Amino acid sequence: MLDRPAATRLQRHVHPFDRAEHARKRCTRALQLFLAAPLLTGCEGPQSTLDPAGIGAERIAELFWWLTACGAVIWTIVVALAIYAIRVRRPHDRRRAAILIIGGGAVVPTIVLAAILTAGLGMMPRLLEPAPDGSLEIHVTGEQWWWRVRYVTPEGEQVELANEVRLPVGEPVQFYLDSPDVIHSFWIPSIGGKMDMVPGRTTRLTLEASRTGTFRGVCAEYCGDSHALMAFYAVVVEPNAFDAWLQQQAEPAVGPADPTAARGEALFLETGCGACHTVRGIAAAGVVGPDLTHVGSRVSLGAGIMPNDAAAFARWITETETVKPGVHMPAFGMLPDEDVRALAAHLDGLQ
Ligand code: CUA
Repeated sequence: MLDRPAATRLQRHVHPFDRAEHARKRCTRALQLFLAAPLLTGCEGPQSTLDPAGIGAERIAELFWWLTACGAVIWTIVVALAIYAIRVRRPHDRRRAAILIIGGGAVVPTIVLAAILTAGLGMMPRLLEPAPDGSLEIHVTGEQWWWRVRYVTPEGEQVELANEVRLPVGEPVQFYLDSPDVIHSFWIPSIGGKMDMVPGRTTRLTLEASRTGTFRGVCAEYCGDSHALMAFYAVVVEPNAFDAWLQQQAEPAVGPADPTAARGEALFLETGCGACHTVRGIAAAGVVGPDLTHVGSRVSLGAGIMPNDAAAFARWITETETVKPGVHMPAFGMLPDEDVRALAAHLDGLQ
C-alpha cells in the first residue's frame, strides 16, 4: 500500500493520456447533466407548457421540441466544424472555405429558418380557430390586479365569479377577453397559448382542455404594481361535474351556518363591503370588486396568491396593501380582531 506522499507524487505525474481521458469523462458527465436538466427541473407541474393538458399547449410543446431538436443538431454541426477548423494545421482550401461560408452562413440558415417559420405559422390558424357554434363561452375581464369571470347558464342567467375558470374536459371553450384600463395577457400555459386583453376591444381565444386537473394561469403582460401577483386557477372537470358546478354557482349564497359567521355577514353590510362587492342573496351588490357569492369555494384568494381559508381572509382584510401592493381595496386593519375573525368566518362559509 502506498503512503500518502508517494500517492501524491504519483498523482502529480499522471500520464497525459490519462489526463485527456479524465477530461473526456468530465465533459461527458457535464453533457449528461445538461441533457438531463430539463427532465429533472420545471417540466412538470400545474403551470408548465411542457406538461400539456390542452390541445393548444400540445401543439406548442410539439413545436418547442422540434425547435429544440433542430437547434441541437445545428449546434452540434457548428461546434464540430469549429473544432475541425481549429485543429487543422495546414492552410484551408479557399474554394471549400468559400462554399462552407456561403452554404453554412446563408443558404442553410435561409432554408432552415424558412422551414421553421412555415411550420410555426402553419400552426397558427388552427390555434386561432373560433370554437364551434354552441360551445361554452366565458368572458374574462382583466382588472387591476384580478380577473372578473362571467358565464351564462343554459337558462340564460349571468353568473359572475373571480380569479378562477372552470372548464369541461374535451370540449372547446370560447373565451372573450377585455380590459377596462390597462393591457393584460390571459395565459394558462398548461392548456394553450396566451392572448392580450386590450382596453376598447374584445379579443378571442379558443381553449380545449385534454385532461382533468387544476392548472395555474397568469397575467403575461406587465400591467402595473401587482402584475406578478395576478394569477388564477383553471379547474378542468368532467362535463357532468361542470354542469353541476355552474348550476351551483348560479344559486345565491347560502345563509351563515354559525353565530360567528352570522355576525360576520352583518359586519360585511355595516362596514360597507357591499359597496364594492356583490354577494347574491344578501343586500350587497357592489360591482367594483370581485363577486364574492361563492368565494369560499374557490381554489385561492387574492388572485392566486394565497390559500383559501379563514386565516388568509383575515390577512387579506387587514393587510391588503402589504399582500398586494397597489390594490384598490383599502385595508381594514382598524377593525377589532374579533370582527375580523367574524368577517373571515362569513366569507370562508360562502361555499
Ligand atoms: Cu395583468 Cu400583468
